[in-house]
Amino acid sequence: MPTDSASYTPGFGNHISTEAVPGALPIGRNSPQKPPYGLYAEQLSGTAFTAPRHENRRSWLYRLRPSAEHPPFTRYEGASTFAPGTTHEPLAPNRLRWDPITPTPNVDLIDGMTTMLTTRDPADLEGVALHLYAADRDMIDRVFVNADGELLFVPQEGRLDLLTELGRIEIAPGQIALIPRGVRFRALLPDGGARGYALENHGSLFRLPDLGPIGANGLANPRDFETPHAWFEDREERCEVIQKFLGSLWRTELHHSPLDVVAWHGNLAPWRYDLSRFNTINTVSFDHPDPSIFTVLTSPSDVPGRANADFVIFPPRWMVAEDTFRPPWFHRNIMSEAMGLITGAYDAKAEGFRPGGLSLHNLLSGHGPDKATWDAASNADLKPHKIAGTMAFMLESCWPYRPTRLAAEHAQPDYDECWADFPKAQLP
Ligand SMILES: [Fe+2]
Repeated sequence: MPTDSASYTPGFGNHISTEAVPGALPIGRNSPQKPPYGLYAEQLSGTAFTAPRHENRRSWLYRLRPSAEHPPFTRYEGASTFAPGTTHEPLAPNRLRWDPITPTPNVDLIDGMTTMLTTRDPADLEGVALHLYAADRDMIDRVFVNADGELLFVPQEGRLDLLTELGRIEIAPGQIALIPRGVRFRALLPDGGARGYALENHGSLFRLPDLGPIGANGLANPRDFETPHAWFEDREERCEVIQKFLGSLWRTELHHSPLDVVAWHGNLAPWRYDLSRFNTINTVSFDHPDPSIFTVLTSPSDVPGRANADFVIFPPRWMVAEDTFRPPWFHRNIMSEAMGLITGAYDAKAEGFRPGGLSLHNLLSGHGPDKATWDAASNADLKPHKIAGTMAFMLESCWPYRPTRLAAEHAQPDYDECWADFPKAQLP
């Protein structure tokens, strides 16, 4: 099935009914005594059965074989840098930054994952983790499934063709895709190689933020999210299933592809979104709002207004503020900030933060513009100008991040120096 725009339905969290074979979707009941064609009915839930109706997410899948049919899982010994756990040693409150990872040749998306940052234990059902991926091999005879959370893919180089149980999604850098917790998928690399970020959310499902005084429109609009139509493969071949469960990787083997859902309906489904469709809102007078104005998706915590995770972007935009220091100001936040760069340059840093790289400013770490940026912005002629050709993102969390041991060993040694040599203020 081609992955063109005709294969998607627009909207966020919609109830969708879709079938890849006419007549495969039961009408009027979820689990008839005999589903069409002998398909097996299976409910996949993303929220508790009793979640309020407006938050309740689940889909009914109609498949060639039941998911329950599989041998026991055993530990997966590949992917040594994926989900390695964190150190429990005391963590210094340092600002940290990383260059892009060096790819390992001949690895697929799963073996090409490097876990950089984690927050909570996945069993807490809260927190986030951040992985970098670099891969040059298609996943042909195996699939991956994450029981620990939903996965948000943020490509930085190369397209991903994500073949999921609920349909096919293709994304290129500048687009993002979400795979719900528990949905099996494999990834093809149409460009031969791919690298980027995989953001894992253990907490409440990502949703669109409330808009408050902004009104009914703006930021990420629901109609720009695209959910794939039903698609399946009927392959009677060996297929390895890798599952992430409670922070470690497990494997089992099937004699067929589990991407065999012929029809489905519901509102728990993968989607893709083009970040260029984000309606960016900012000041037209002075100062600039908190970066929460750039929130694409939010995962609320149990405390009102305090996000388990916000996915925030820094897209191309006009800067018009009068008598204002226009780049991000100096700040110390109660939230913890992990940042990545998809393309271009980020307006708070003159150098050192490269596309594919990563930075971490944990709670209450002082940070902001580097010296070169501060010099330039403090003396700039404040005409309207456009920040163009850039796309950075932040995964902000109320839970402090812990670098993995591997990440801690590979951080840039000199990041603090970008804030050295600021002149002292001169009192009269
Ligand atoms: Fe910050």
